[in-house]
Formats: sequence, C-alpha cells, structure tokens
Amino acid sequence: MSDPLVIRPFLLPARGVARVPGSKSVTNRALVIAALADGETLLTDALFSRDTLILIAALRSLGFEVSDDKRIRTIRVRGLGGKIPARTASIHVGNAGTAARFLTAFLALSPGGRYELDGDEAMRARPMAGLLEALRGAGCRATAPDGGPATGFPFTLETSGRLGALEVDASASSQLLSALLMALPLSPGSSVRMRGETVSEPFVEMTMRMCAQFGRPLTHAADGAWSCPAPGPYAAAKEYAVEPDATAASYFIGLPAVTPPGSCVRIGGYAEGGLQGDTAFARVAERCGARIRTDGPGVVVESWTKVASGDFDLNAFSDTFLTLATVAALADGAVRIRGIGHTRKQETDRVLAMATELERIGLKVTPASSALRDDACLSELTVHPDREAMRRVASAGPVRIRTYEDHRMAMSFGMLGCHDLFGDGRPWIEIEDPACTGKTFPDFFSALDALRGRFVRVAVDGGAASGKSSTSRALAARLGLLHVDTGAHYRTLTLALLKRGARADDDAGIARTLSGLRASSSVTGLAARLAIDGVTPSDSELRTPEVNAAVSSVAAHPAVRAFLLGHQRAQAEAARAGGFAGLVMEGRDIGSVVMPDAEVRVFLEADAAARERRRAAEGMQDPIGHRDRMDSTRAVSPMVCTPGAVRIDNTELGLEAVVDRVAAFVAAAAGR
Ligand code: DC
Repeated sequence: MSDPLVIRPFLLPARGVARVPGSKSVTNRALVIAALADGETLLTDALFSRDTLILIAALRSLGFEVSDDKRIRTIRVRGLGGKIPARTASIHVGNAGTAARFLTAFLALSPGGRYELDGDEAMRARPMAGLLEALRGAGCRATAPDGGPATGFPFTLETSGRLGALEVDASASSQLLSALLMALPLSPGSSVRMRGETVSEPFVEMTMRMCAQFGRPLTHAADGAWSCPAPGPYAAAKEYAVEPDATAASYFIGLPAVTPPGSCVRIGGYAEGGLQGDTAFARVAERCGARIRTDGPGVVVESWTKVASGDFDLNAFSDTFLTLATVAALADGAVRIRGIGHTRKQETDRVLAMATELERIGLKVTPASSALRDDACLSELTVHPDREAMRRVASAGPVRIRTYEDHRMAMSFGMLGCHDLFGDGRPWIEIEDPACTGKTFPDFFSALDALRGRFVRVAVDGGAASGKSSTSRALAARLGLLHVDTGAHYRTLTLALLKRGARADDDAGIARTLSGLRASSSVTGLAARLAIDGVTPSDSELRTPEVNAAVSSVAAHPAVRAFLLGHQRAQAEAARAGGFAGLVMEGRDIGSVVMPDAEVRVFLEADAAARERRRAAEGMQDPIGHRDRMDSTRAVSPMVCTPGAVRIDNTELGLEAVVDRVAAFVAAAAGR
C-alpha cells in the first residue's frame, strides 16, 4: 500500500487544463475498428494503460503495423480493410475484458485461421460463453484444452472468415455484443440478434456510434436484429481524437465547486452527449449549480454558483455518484443519490464505503453505514452537509480517508480535500493508498496539482528556426497553456494581402487592403489561430516560398503591426476565459512590445549553422539570415532581447532540456 497523501487545499482559484486520460472503452474500440479500416488511422489523446497495451500487442502479433508514442498519446494503426495477416497466433489478453471479447469476434473474420487465446486467472472466470456460442453459429470452433467446446479462456479458435445470422446471449456483458457489432460490416449479409437483455445499453450505443463515425453505420431493426446496410471495410480516419474518460473528467467538473471563486478549469475534448454515458454527469452538476460552457473542442467549468440540494438518480452513470456524494459535503441542503445499488458489488461496496468515509469526516448520511452493513439491498444514499461538524472533526488534524482499493474513493475525496475548509489553508483530508488511482488515472494527484497557481504569461522570442515553435508547443502541452504563434499571424496576414493583390513594397496599398480585413481567433486543442475574414490557412499554405519571401517585409509595415497588436494582446484575456493555466506567445517582439510585462520572458538562440540545418531538415526553402537581418533592423518593433528576458542558447540543448528550464520559471511565477 502506498503512503498516505495529505491534500493541500487550494488557496487560489483552480485554473488550467485538466489532464484527463483518454477513455479506455473508446481507445480499444477505435483500435479494433482502425485495424478493420482501409488505410492508416491516427488516434490522438489515446489511453495508455495495461488494457490498451494488451490490445496493441495483440494486433501486432497478428501482423498489423501499430506504432505508438506514449509521450504525445498517439497511436497509428494501418488497417487492412478486414484482412488479418497472421493465420495463426498465440494471444494473451491478460485481464482486459475489451481486448478479450473484441479480438475474439475480430478473429472470426479470418478465413481458415487457428488462434490460441488465453487470459489471466481472473479473465478465465469472466463471461465469454455467450460470444463463443454465437461464433459457433458462424462456423467457428472454440475448443477447450481438454478437447471439448470452450466456454471461456483458454481456447483454440478455428475461424470461418464470416459471421452470418448470429444470436448472442450478452446478458452477462454488453462487450460480447459490441464485439460482434464491430465485426458486422466486414461480413456482408450478416446480422446479430440478442437473446435476452444486456446490462449496459450505453456501451452498445457507443459501439454503434463509433461504427458510424468510421463510415459503417449499423441499424437495429424492430425485430431486434443489428445489421450493416452498406457493408465493407471501415473508412480510416486521418485523425481520430479519443474522448477523455468521462468519469475521470467528473472530478474536474466537481473541483470548481470546492475551490475559491474565480475557478475556471478546461476539459479538452469533453462533450455532453459524447460517446460515453457518464457525460450525463455534467447535467446533474448543472442542476446543482455548476457553470459549464462549451468552448471550442471541450468545455470550461467555472466556479459553481452554489451546490444545491436535490434528489438525483445516477443509475445510468453510477461511476460518477462518488463525485456527487463528495461535492455534496458542501451543499446547501441534503443531497439524495438514488439508483446506485449495483455499485455495492463493484471494486468495493461503494455505497457503504462512501457512507463510512462521509461519516468519518463528520457528516450524517442516511441510511447510516451501520444500516447499510445490515442490509445489502439498500440502494441509495442521502448526504446531509454540515461544515461546522466537518471542522470539529478535522480540528485535530487531517482525517485519513480509507480507500478500500477503490480508485474512485481516492479521487473523489482527493477532490473534496482541495476545499479550504478552515479558510487558512490547513489540510483536513488525507488519502490512504493514493496509488490506487493507478487503475484508471495514475497521475490523478499531479493533474490536480497542475491546476493550482496563478495565470502566467510566457513570451518566447527569437530568430527564424531558433526553436520557438517546438519549445512553445511542448511547453503548452506540458503546462496546459494556450499557445499563440504570432509568426503564423504575420504569415496569415501576408497570405491574405498577397491573395488580394497587395504588394509588399506598396505602403498605401497595404494600408488600404488592411482596412477591409477582419481578424478573429479560433482554438484547436491548445493552439489559438488567427483567421482573416473567417479563413485560417493550413500550415503548408503559410510556409510556401512566396510567403517566406514576403513575410518579413510585410511585417515591417507599421500598419500591419498595428493591425495585429490589438489582436495579440487580447489573447491573454481569451486564455484566461478559456480556463488555460496561462499563455505562451512566440514571435519576435513579444517580450519587448506585445507583452513586456509577461511573467516569464525568454529569448531563444542557436548558431546559424544549426538553424540552417533545422530548416533544411524540415525540407523548407527559407532565407533565414536575410529574414533575421530584416526582423532585427526594422524601424518598428525590431527583434531584440530586452533586459530581464532569459537568453537560452539551444544549439546544443535538446528540446526537453529547454522546456524543463522554461517550465521551472513558469512554476515559480505561478507560485506552485
Ligand atoms: O516565426 P516565423 O518564422 O513564422 O515568423 C515569420 C515572420 O513574421 C518573421 O520573419 C517576422 C515576422 N514576425 C514578426 O515580425 N513579429 C513577430 N512577433 C512574429 C513574426
């Protein structure tokens, strides 16, 4: 068991980008579908956990090309349009339920294959019979080691290469059905019918929606049969962003309810009505007083107006009940949570565990933990908030919360502990065995910590190819800052002017053309990009030889600089309102003109030969030396390293080392 962790209350509003891991259910479905697609799919924001790594390894052992980069959370899969290269393979699925079921149905698509499958002890006991039985109907044979028909792992699967009209008993797990549904489009004329009911409709729904996202919508007819009206390989997705785990996201929706007013947390990629049923928690939170707004690709959660009392049925998204129950400790009246009886058989008896620990911090709950212990059928919990009682209990020191090897107990009380109960920063909650969050969210507590601290503006200046963009992008990703590339602003404007026939040497023409242009900004991921009259050019359009040749002279025009300055200065406010932890803006005059009062100012340098090499490696034709001379000698806003800026020569330093140095300045400025 890991050492207990004392939670430090937030003294400042919470702010920043919540680093929520990707959803496991979505990552593993996307991997299977991508392998069945025609061509290459790039999954971004994917989850890297034991279960997804098992599936990746299995796909590789079947002959698929899968490359992954854990650092930037991407997985690239080359789909083969339904072909499975290896006719034989031996696959171990560990205790990964999704991998186990999805792969088994997937393998059925291989004509004349013979695969040995096994899993951990726990997996051998988990439901599998319904799927194996269904596949027998497809002409596959699943044989146990004793030679008889298999009902679970381990087994040898001899495959027919097609599904046909199948029936599946998915009453024990919806994954048995989902596995077949994903394979359906690859076997024309096939259908799946369910015998009885399944446990988790939302997951079947997720599967169907993902099949449609990859171009093969399924239908579910009135007679109960699923089929794919237009079968064929899935369409590869150039880039498929995996949704953040909705249950994990709930702690960051709850956090601004417990931290000081002015909190503003961004959850990238989270959308109500997303693929995961647990996004319904956002609606419950809003009923209690959460302020959640959609902002670009994600949501921003601000300090709740209050935590209102109420009566909530969390049956369909019960993993989030622990989040609500802990936030309820600060409500303005009793909070009743119903429909959670089934959670008493999860990682632990969650209702009993929650009641016991809420009582431990001084609250009354009904039914009381003693009653819950006596009656296994009780299926609800009412929390009666009482700050005075909590203060009394914690006055002797932090209360140690037992976590029962349940990651969600640790995370929900960890979030509540961020509340400054005494108003003086004294910790009042301590989490037993914090490492138990590893099941779904190993970095949970550092992700919480990343949201404490002041808003920080970082100015990064430097010449062409001095490493501004890669440094700024990596810094933004590491710290949850909004990234603004002002070089791209000048390029965007240069392109717009050239397209409208303005010439770089015609002052009056440029001023005239500028007066008719409108600048706006849009955020994708962590980057804010400039649009001129609603058009944001692609990176390659911004880096053509024509733009490279003209941009420095265009940027020397006072009218051009005046046009962009207001827009650039407004980005800090946009970053603040968007919940970012701060802003990193790169260019030539950021620390000197645009944000001379930025908390951190950096000037990057590298020797000329190194910079030439970098550009050449990017395959770009770019008159670097010439641009630098123009950029540093022009009359308005020349490139300079102003006093107080930190000069970093990165000729010999790697990117990580540079980012480490700048990140340390940011942490100091944020007061973390
Ligand atoms: O960083 P970059 O190479 O994309 O910038 C392109 C040009 O834009 C650069 O040569 C000069 C101009 N620029 C500027 O004048 N001021 C800035 N803050 C950023 C770029």
